[in-house]
Amino acid sequence: MAERIDGKAISLQIKDELKKQLEEIRAQGGKRCLAVILVGEDPASKVYVGNKKKACEYIGIESRSYELPAETSQEELLALIDKLNKDSEVDGILVQLPLPAGLDERQVIRAIAPEKDVDGFHPVNVGSLLIGEPGYVSCTPAGVIQLLKRSGIEIAGKECVVVGRSNIVGKPMAALLLRENGTVTVCHSRTKNLAEVCRRADILVVAVGKPRMIDASYIKEGAVVIDVGIHRMENGKLCGDVDFDAVEPHCSAITPVPGGVGPMTIAMLMNNCVNRVTE
Ligand code: GUN
Repeated sequence: MAERIDGKAISLQIKDELKKQLEEIRAQGGKRCLAVILVGEDPASKVYVGNKKKACEYIGIESRSYELPAETSQEELLALIDKLNKDSEVDGILVQLPLPAGLDERQVIRAIAPEKDVDGFHPVNVGSLLIGEPGYVSCTPAGVIQLLKRSGIEIAGKECVVVGRSNIVGKPMAALLLRENGTVTVCHSRTKNLAEVCRRADILVVAVGKPRMIDASYIKEGAVVIDVGIHRMENGKLCGDVDFDAVEPHCSAITPVPGGVGPMTIAMLMNNCVNRVTE
């Protein structure tokens, strides 16, 4: 039987550590404040933003909420970001993605001051990760590294295969595994013999966005499997990019969906808020 990596328990452990750390910061007169910007009415984004605000409250981070109508112009959004960049009371700025049609996500990400970019999406932070300099790291891949480390899984020297090359998950995931001295392969939609390449993996991280695409034919016996996907099935239940029931008997450890990678994203966002990167 594979070990089930319990992301809910590990994320709670991290949040409790951060809460203690912030108590010490506050005892010395410090504080932390996160500004959260939500544009439009996307129901999933509203749930995510609500969960981020709840986590802030749990840890003791002040959260300031900016809920803007879907018709907000690019100029209005950029003006708000500029104001928050200049506000010394604000430590972190998060713009929930995706933005409504008509807004330029790329320009918005670049407008956030890199030292307040707690999502780690700004090109300066992405570049810092690649060249091994301090900076904010994208929360979901940072959470995967914590899941591995806190489950006692060694990365150094291991064959790591990442399936997916998004800017938010796949690319930073590859950079982080490399930083931990893994031997890293990145696969994508044009990869030939995908199952064969995945079967090399000691650690397989899947972020493709296709429900239950990865079956047993992609798995080396005894591999560690990390599933970043999350999808709602027709019966209302959640599933990942990995066919859990088919894959679990073949691996040594696996993350479930829900309760695996998902809760780690917010825990790492909270970590980025408490442990500031100042330039
Ligand atoms: N939308 C989905 N995931 C994320 C995230 O991690 N950060 C932001 N800002 N938006 C998202």
